[in-house]
Amino acid sequence: MALLTMTGMHKRFGNVIALDDVDFTLEAGEVHALVGENGAGKSTLMKVLAGVQPPDAGTMTLAEREVRFASVTEAQANGVVMVYQELALVPSLSVTENLLLGRLPPLVRYGDLRARARDLLAQVDLAIDPNAEVGRLGIGERQLIEIARALSREGRVLVLDEPTAALSATETDHLFEIIGKGKAQGVSVVYISHRLEEVFRIADRVTVLRDGKRVGTRSLAETSAEEIVRLMVGKAVRRYERPQRHEAEELGRFEVGGGGDLQTTTIALRAGEIVGLAGVIGSGRERVLPTAFGLHGTARWRERPLRSPRDAIREGIVLVPSDRKTQGLVLELTVQENVSLATLERLQRLGFMRSGLERQQTRRWIERLSLRPPEPHKPVFELSGGNQQKVVIAKALATEPKVLLLDEPTRGVDVGARAELYDVIDDLSSRGLGLLLSSSDTEELLGLSDRILVFRGGRIATTLTPPFAYEEVVAHVTGAHQVA
Ligand SMILES: Nc1ncnc2c1ncn2[C@@H]1O[C@H](COP(=O)(O)OP(=O)(O)O)[C@@H](O)[C@H]1O
Ligand SMILES: [Mg+2]
Repeated sequence: MALLTMTGMHKRFGNVIALDDVDFTLEAGEVHALVGENGAGKSTLMKVLAGVQPPDAGTMTLAEREVRFASVTEAQANGVVMVYQELALVPSLSVTENLLLGRLPPLVRYGDLRARARDLLAQVDLAIDPNAEVGRLGIGERQLIEIARALSREGRVLVLDEPTAALSATETDHLFEIIGKGKAQGVSVVYISHRLEEVFRIADRVTVLRDGKRVGTRSLAETSAEEIVRLMVGKAVRRYERPQRHEAEELGRFEVGGGGDLQTTTIALRAGEIVGLAGVIGSGRERVLPTAFGLHGTARWRERPLRSPRDAIREGIVLVPSDRKTQGLVLELTVQENVSLATLERLQRLGFMRSGLERQQTRRWIERLSLRPPEPHKPVFELSGGNQQKVVIAKALATEPKVLLLDEPTRGVDVGARAELYDVIDDLSSRGLGLLLSSSDTEELLGLSDRILVFRGGRIATTLTPPFAYEEVVAHVTGAHQVA
């Protein structure tokens, strides 16, 4: 009898079916990996288990008792603890305070707490000062504190959602030791990961989700990385090809590096070319574009240093950031005002704001990007996600760049609007812009790229050229070829 059984789990968000009749079991003392492409439903399944979200249908049995957790607290009281992708620690509090957050007895002696915190830290072999402020610790240390916190709740089931994304190799080894320890004490672990190497290293079984469905569960002793990739991707081997570009002139070369886990990397870019950047979080991929825009690390373009976004814009390089809400747009301002922000300097150089010129320019972008509604005076927060993204792109294009850096351009954009954005991106490349496209969406990379650079361990591990095979890309991204 399994420790945990989930049967017929369903969960829907609007018209997205996140979970479609999913069964899942977990044995006592087992490490069970959960894999699947982005959006497959992994986090949702575990959030249902951990009491974060109620399922629409389905039953759960834990230790032979039917359970239904209405809240995280209730799940925790039953020994089910989840460590999220997004860390839940409070940066301004000390390590001790974070470890014992929400569980402080009414009368506390701080000395006792500190001793308790020390015990917990010892459990995860962390040699840090319990008085240290969490905000000053490295991300890996914080992750381990989260896990210490989870284990301290006498968890029987520990869920880790992509825990190693932000960890160094040493920290990952450390984490695996702790998982091994927990396992020896009878703790069961659900381990969500995009890295197949890790899955083969620590898991006993693996369940693969695709589009909200469970497509298979295997014992790792009886499967291969190839089979798992095949399950993730589906049976049909889909091939993608963009019309072959003529050999256009090289616009220049980026040399980026020196920022955290990204080693120095050179990327050449031709006019009209779309270079796709693939790689899981923590592979270095997600650092390339901010670095190339002069936001951190060191970057050079055509041998010239890019020390700030100002330098980049001067060279005709502009970034469309992944987080448009905080970095790309002022939601309260109108479409026109947002588009003008980037060009204000240029407009003002003429000595005064020429509102006629500004209007004309905005109208041109609204037309070119088929913004809906085609209304320059609407505040941006009234637009859909896809149309907000078009405004961000318009804003970037208003600086008349030669190179566009697109960071997760369709995150949070619905399917219909996505296709429109793809047309926009394709159109920009045919106008001779060079584009770097960083994306965690394999389909998007396949459909748009002329070349795909796969990042692993802070550098380009492979360069793929058309015709792309879907499976091949996923195999390189997940490191399936690295599995011994
Ligand atoms: N709170 C939410 N609101 C709306 N849609 C959601 C929400 N959470 C997840 N989804 C959608 O459900 C699907 C599964 O998401 P998720 O479980 O996060 O996938 P995974 O963890 O495998 O990447 C995706 O299409 C995602 O966009
Ligand atoms: Mg997830």
